[in-house]
Amino acid sequence: MFIVENELDFSQKEEAIVVGLFERSKKLDGIVGELDTILDGEITKLLVDGDLSAKKKSISKIHTLGRMNIKRLIFVGLGKEDELTFEGIREVIGKAVKSIHTAKIESFAVLLDTFTTENLDALDCSHALGEAVTLSTYSFADYKQKSNIPEHAIAKVTVYSQEDSEEVEAGLVVGSAYGQGTNTARTLVNLPGNMLTATDLANHAIELAKKYEFEAEILDKEEMEKLGMGALLAVNKGSVEPPKMIVLKYQGKDTWEDVIGLVGKGITFDTGGYSIKPKDGIVGMKADMGGAAAVLGAMEVIGKLRPEQNVVAVIPSTDNMISGDAFKPDDVITALSGKTIEILNTDAEGRLALADGVTYAKHHGASVLVDVATLTGGVIVALGHDITGAMTNNEELFEQVLEASYEAGEMIWRLPITEKHKARVRKSRVADLNNSPGRDGHAIFAGTFIGEFAEDTPWVHLDIAGTATTTSDYELGPAGGTGAMVRTLATFVELYQANKE
Ligand code: BES
Ligand code: ZN
Ligand code: ZN
Repeated sequence: MFIVENELDFSQKEEAIVVGLFERSKKLDGIVGELDTILDGEITKLLVDGDLSAKKKSISKIHTLGRMNIKRLIFVGLGKEDELTFEGIREVIGKAVKSIHTAKIESFAVLLDTFTTENLDALDCSHALGEAVTLSTYSFADYKQKSNIPEHAIAKVTVYSQEDSEEVEAGLVVGSAYGQGTNTARTLVNLPGNMLTATDLANHAIELAKKYEFEAEILDKEEMEKLGMGALLAVNKGSVEPPKMIVLKYQGKDTWEDVIGLVGKGITFDTGGYSIKPKDGIVGMKADMGGAAAVLGAMEVIGKLRPEQNVVAVIPSTDNMISGDAFKPDDVITALSGKTIEILNTDAEGRLALADGVTYAKHHGASVLVDVATLTGGVIVALGHDITGAMTNNEELFEQVLEASYEAGEMIWRLPITEKHKARVRKSRVADLNNSPGRDGHAIFAGTFIGEFAEDTPWVHLDIAGTATTTSDYELGPAGGTGAMVRTLATFVELYQANKE
């Protein structure tokens, strides 16, 4: 889709050219100045008259009315140069590309050097561009007789830059890979529960493994019973769909040491079980495998970019249903780690699935763990829909995940785990743990519970209940699954340093 060129030949035909515009000087410089000269100073005039804006996120489409072969100039406002961030470029390009897509234009060009600043070089800008184009053109094919998928698609993007073209190409490859992994996660989240069962999720993982040469292991119910995965099996008891424990291994180092474990909650539909959700709370629970989607999306990025790291992805998957066989409050179950759990609420099922997922990741050699889960409504109350909740038992690992989230522009915010929280999770007359100590600050109890299974292994928990889906369209995508944390996880893997001093 992307073609990199050094020089813009002004006589060349282009449907549209995207140009970045900073609020920096009244006088236009560089390539924009050349365009201005060709157009007899019209760009300067438009700026002076206020018909063209360099304000952050403003998009101004200028038709050249046959005065050049380039049909339209699309100016994107970048605001003040020293304030522009990677995220800012992604959003503004996303917005421009959306408008190009809506206008049914199938090929366009970008003047990349009009976006670079002291802090954001050509590699950053081409990465942002690759991501923004991939993300902003995403749509989920609906099931209407008249499909929503447009007949036109953006087929070609020419990127003009005088910087090192290998660097620009590398940025585009990385950005597109990040975008594609995110889009896959979006699709998995958007698929309804009847079209994405645990078996379907496992099949997706098998396909990934074939494509990117991962080692795959899919445990079925009998194998789980033999191993004693009583926590995941308890959640599955009420279902007619078989559970799956999905494992993918990517070996990027010579030896299977320093292994990053990524564990994703794969509840393909959450009714709440006997602690049934109210009817308004059930709608949308097809997205309760958002953590699994994030991990699989990140594995896709890892498969494409092949960093020198070892990664084991573990996805405990089932739906949470009701039947005569279903688990129920007061039941006592035994997790894979041997810990017993008193069930107080069958709707706190994610932490049960993750308990076995985390333990199994350790069995596979994970030396650090990051779990991702649509775990609690409580995190939405606490942090809203733009911020992912985080918890940890290890400062150093948390710093690394935080840094990755900054790079990816996906905000995370830490919630504490105190001895009091641990005591509440451990309070039970009949078992080692209980799965629902109360509603007060319950996002913390959920994380604390998972921490009981991470034990001494450095671990970060990411609660994406608020961020995995959105109800409205935005610059970089439509309403529905967002693919939250795919880019953070992939960036974390890329940046990860074992035993950092
Ligand atoms: N899947 C839900 C959490 C959730 C809620 C995700 C809203 C996305 C949007 C989870 O399994 C759940 O039901 N959690 C309970 C925990 C409670 C029983 C302690 C909750 O948040 O109410
Ligand atoms: Zn639940
Ligand atoms: Zn759930």
